Amino acid sequence: MLNQKMIGFGITLALFFLSSCGGNSKAEQTPIDPATEVINQKVEKTLSQLTLEEKVGQMTQITMDVISKGESIFVSDEPLELDDKKVIEAIQKYKVGSFLNTANNRARTPEKWNEIISDLQKVAMKEVGIPIIYGIDAIHGTTYTAGATFFPQPIGMGASWNKDLVRQMAEITAYETRASGIPWNFSPVLDLGRDGRWARMWETFGEDVFLVSEMGRETIRGYQGDDNDVSKKGRVAGSLKHYLGYSSYSGKDRTPAYIPERQLREIYLPSFKAAVDQGAYTVMVNSGLINGIPVHANKRLITDLLKNELAFEGLVVTDWADIENLHNRDKIAADQKEAVKMAVNAGIDMAMVPYNFNFTTNLIELVKEGEVNISRIDDAVRRVLKVKYALGLFENPTTEIDDYKEFASTKSEALALATAEESITLLKNRKKVLPLSKNAKVLVTGPNANSMRTLNGGWSYSWQGEKVSEFAEGYQTILEAIEEEIGKSNVSYVSGLEYKMDGKYEEEQNINIQGAVKAARNVDYIILCLGENSYCEKPGDLVDMDISENQQALAQAMAATGKPVILILNEGRPRLISRFEAQMDAVVQTYLPGNFGGVALANILFGDVNPSGKLPYTYPKYPNSLLTYDHQPSENQEKMEGVYDYESSFEIQYPFGHGLSYTTFEYSDLVVSKNEFDADDKLDVSVKVTNTGNRAGKEVVQLYTSDLYASISPSVKRLRRFEKIELAAGESKVVNFEISARDLAFVGLNNEWISEEGDFIFRLGNLEKQVKLTETKVFDQFPSLNL
Ligand code: BGC
Repeated sequence: MLNQKMIGFGITLALFFLSSCGGNSKAEQTPIDPATEVINQKVEKTLSQLTLEEKVGQMTQITMDVISKGESIFVSDEPLELDDKKVIEAIQKYKVGSFLNTANNRARTPEKWNEIISDLQKVAMKEVGIPIIYGIDAIHGTTYTAGATFFPQPIGMGASWNKDLVRQMAEITAYETRASGIPWNFSPVLDLGRDGRWARMWETFGEDVFLVSEMGRETIRGYQGDDNDVSKKGRVAGSLKHYLGYSSYSGKDRTPAYIPERQLREIYLPSFKAAVDQGAYTVMVNSGLINGIPVHANKRLITDLLKNELAFEGLVVTDWADIENLHNRDKIAADQKEAVKMAVNAGIDMAMVPYNFNFTTNLIELVKEGEVNISRIDDAVRRVLKVKYALGLFENPTTEIDDYKEFASTKSEALALATAEESITLLKNRKKVLPLSKNAKVLVTGPNANSMRTLNGGWSYSWQGEKVSEFAEGYQTILEAIEEEIGKSNVSYVSGLEYKMDGKYEEEQNINIQGAVKAARNVDYIILCLGENSYCEKPGDLVDMDISENQQALAQAMAATGKPVILILNEGRPRLISRFEAQMDAVVQTYLPGNFGGVALANILFGDVNPSGKLPYTYPKYPNSLLTYDHQPSENQEKMEGVYDYESSFEIQYPFGHGLSYTTFEYSDLVVSKNEFDADDKLDVSVKVTNTGNRAGKEVVQLYTSDLYASISPSVKRLRRFEKIELAAGESKVVNFEISARDLAFVGLNNEWISEEGDFIFRLGNLEKQVKLTETKVFDQFPSLNL
């Protein structure tokens, strides 16, 4: 399959990827751009000069802990200092070609980052003649650099449903990351957040494949530029993660998932395909297992599907310690050496080892013993070198910090505030209690009311986010922002309960519910801030999806005061609130809005900003009703006269795509250009949206379709298009979407994208229209991967 998008970009440097597989028919058909050709020649020349040891070193990535002084950087508060002897050992002896680091400490300014990375580059250029590539998780801004601009976590970016904002967020993140001397970002997360219990839910853009694909593509455009020339100032190479099917079936992180190939192709693959087509340079592999096989050992997924079928010619990196896990955790390799053989032969190009050099020594032996072919090593190293050349690292291994005067500029911070405002989602607003008057007297309470840590979540200054309060002193918590908004004299604060800083993230202490009840007597409204403390990955595994018992008790006590309660949710995943939600007058979801989340929320609560976020997932009501909006009909059994005299429905708290505004929008004039269409037709779908309220507002126009009957029981509805528009009071706009039969296709029984003839319903707002597809068409057919 030819990578059309990349070709479309004409001069793109990404094109060089296409030309590199000798004998590949794609390469023969593709016109090679001169810049690509130049890079290819350089790569081949460099490769031809490398020894086996140097090649294997290029495939090795080590964490900074291995080459730095003192205690582990994960716990240290001291400025990180390289240990020269260890650096020499890693680079001179083992020829290590890549480093990563996820910790932070006080001195990690852009200058400090540049100093560390330039020290490593000097040694690498002297000893090996090839620059190292440094990678980091800058998933909501450059979150390991002190002073950088922090955006909402991806779940909030998804809730903004604003593609422009997502692209601009990625541009600023790329700029500030490169300003810190780091050219490689382990982002975007293109997994789907389809299980509200999962500790990585907030790292995703939500539960829907179309929404995630759109946001993922915009992120890559922002990181790499439209021409994918990442040698330009302020750009980084993105990494699509975690390929493929990283999801939760038990609610816990990194546990086995069972996904039939059809579902893998229809639901989990498209977000990766869209970003590969956009020209993404690197992919990180899913740490979990699919159908019993760890993805890191699955050649069918890595080589056959990603590298061959999707024509991905970039670099595939493992996740943290996941080659070792084939032996240590998953028990499919009898020893570490066998694990290395499995992963490299499956198609891994670089190992995030991260703590030792066993990968390097084992792989050298495996090549010498003929267990791993040298052509596989050459393929891997070619991919690594191409990324390094594309980033311009050979010419400029370090960043000129003076070129980056816009680091954390006022403009960037204003954008971060705007994204936080657009992500915050008004879920309930009984009797229009919101917005509040600025003369109102309020009690602010709850463990999330006065915490920068909870506003940011994990991947913020440190992996688990536990250092946020030290670094984010200059920003405002919810309490501080409300005090500034309406004056301290109008605000009472009693936390009611607090998170333990050293305990498990869901534990609370200092329980003072009575204090909050007392304080409520003197106010007009209660702003109750509940949710979760920060966490990341496995340590965030849950045993109980309900919001904690202490928080439920606080909510019930607040409701019992008789004062109107505004519930603010500040959480990475939808913790159940059904035991007290009916007693809340308003509910506002902030997700993890970042450093500007407090101000953004205050602007919304007191009416300076009209909320426009929409839920990017289905908010569940009960632990045994965890379904996504695109479920199949049998999940929601309605009564049917003479057939079923019972119903079995799953109830939800709030639906996917839901979010209120302070104004009202009316949908009218839904037009679909044809009543009947064939498989090659394009349909124009349009709808008029009018702001019928008395203030300006933004609306996300969402087009869903339902296939009424299909050979595989169809989803009740699927999101096909969306657009966020802004309307002044009284203003109308017509929104147009183009859609074809291919957009309505599903993956059928024979592993093919197929649209079947029959009736479809198109839904926009409260309007719907039925149209008929007059023929069945198979669009693409794939050989089974036998997963
Ligand atoms: C996570 C990845 C991350 C990597 C490096 C892993 O534990 O699963 O998402 O990129 O660590 O920090």
